[in-house]
Amino acid sequence: MAGGNSRGISTSQVGVHDKLDELVVKYQHSENKRPISAHTQAAFEKTCEWLEGFDGDVILDSCCGVGESTANIARANPEARVIGIDKSELRVEKHEHYRTELSNYTVIRADVNDFWRLVRQSNWRVTQHFLLYPNPYPKKTQVQKRWHASAAMVDLMAITPHIEVRSNWLIYLMEFAQAAKHYGVMSDLSEITGDDCMTPFERKYRASGQVCWQLQCRNEED
Ligand SMILES: C[S@@+](CC[C@H](N)C(=O)[O-])C[C@H]1O[C@@H](n2cnc3c(N)ncnc32)[C@H](O)[C@@H]1O
Repeated sequence: MAGGNSRGISTSQVGVHDKLDELVVKYQHSENKRPISAHTQAAFEKTCEWLEGFDGDVILDSCCGVGESTANIARANPEARVIGIDKSELRVEKHEHYRTELSNYTVIRADVNDFWRLVRQSNWRVTQHFLLYPNPYPKKTQVQKRWHASAAMVDLMAITPHIEVRSNWLIYLMEFAQAAKHYGVMSDLSEITGDDCMTPFERKYRASGQVCWQLQCRNEED
């Protein structure tokens, strides 16, 4: 795979952030008091209506961008309902241009900081959660913007331990794995190989010769 022009991650951070454990523990034991935004509350309620009467597996695709992965996941899991979530209206709207005929998925605009809290309080049976190429925020000073070192981690981890995170920055996934351990969640890290790309960002990175990685999380006992 070649031909892309995406530049690799540039950072002075050479390993897992030295404040990571401290931040994870701090957020694990503090209450998230951030008010839920009205647009995310409305998107959640609309999704509840879409799920009305369905009691099967629900799969989340958080930060789904244009929702290409959401459609791929829906195709691979025809019995499940798949929800793609992204805060960018522009990206979510782009999904309409190539919406598939599949009826077992939806792509919504919402902020996952709030959406994860609402899902956590719901009775949805979430069995898998994809987090594909979240913004890495690679500057050392940006550590708290990474999901695993943010206040949202406690909600993310409460939804399901079956999380798959992908990134072109290995340190991001090493940090996520270390943070997840604080919640009794173990993980396996591997390089993504083969010709298929699950998302536009994955395609772009790999076409530029960058290595992409996946972290698959599970319960300690699994
Ligand atoms: C690097 S892009 C990856 C998109 C897609 N997963 C892919 O691989 O093509 C990161 C995405 O995260 C979304 N995002 C960032 N913060 C978010 C938030 N708080 N809630 C929902 N989406 C968010 C951005 O809008 C963007 O589409």
